[in-house]
Amino acid sequence: MTGQPLVVAIDGTSGVGKSTVARRLALVLDVPYLETGAMYRALGLKVDQMGVDPANRETVEALASDLDLVLRRNPDGTVEVLLDGRRLGEEARQPRISEITSSISTYPGVRRVMVAHQRSFAESAGAVVEGRDIGTKVFPDTPHKFFLQAPLATRVRRRLQQLEESGRSNLSADELMREVSERDERDSTRAESPLTVNSSYRIVDTGSRSIEEVVQVILEEIRQLLPSG
Ligand code: DC
Repeated sequence: MTGQPLVVAIDGTSGVGKSTVARRLALVLDVPYLETGAMYRALGLKVDQMGVDPANRETVEALASDLDLVLRRNPDGTVEVLLDGRRLGEEARQPRISEITSSISTYPGVRRVMVAHQRSFAESAGAVVEGRDIGTKVFPDTPHKFFLQAPLATRVRRRLQQLEESGRSNLSADELMREVSERDERDSTRAESPLTVNSSYRIVDTGSRSIEEVVQVILEEIRQLLPSG
């Protein structure tokens, strides 16, 4: 054993199943699960609450530096994002906040703040960390990197189901398809830490496998690299 905490990076586009897979992996591996998208969404919500123009980079970056953001680990291993001392609610998942979040997460000053939080959190206890740049920028040295992918139509169908389950399905499938592909495009083409994959990742297709199968594939890979496996 190297003594290093176990850090597993799960990257991929929206709706690809990252959260579900990462949460289950964390349970099995007995480490916390960190959903970094929620941290960027907390800032998106704050920008909205303060009436700040998301295009105003300087003001948004200043807001990020002063953000009262806490990652609280619960005894069951889940991690809550607290904004101004309060749990981030469902409001942060609304399409309007998704849009704002996707634009403000392109700013270097925003990413610096979030990455610092993520590193200090996972460096102590290890974690399954889910996002867009985890294996490329946040933890480039971890050997456990997985890039999840699935066709756009599958991802949109899943997102729609999620929204319906939480009673927020005010978008049609076409509108959602447009929103998701715009967001994919922005997340993948931005200058700062774009969503990219390289040869250090294991690519896992989630469109053709059940969640349980995806989790098993990833666990097998991780165990092969662990000293006992
Ligand atoms: O995973 P999500 O859909 O909740 O993420 C919301 C937005 O945050 C997404 O448009 C891209 C951004 N994000 C990011 O830039 N880097 C991360 N590590 C996680 C999310």
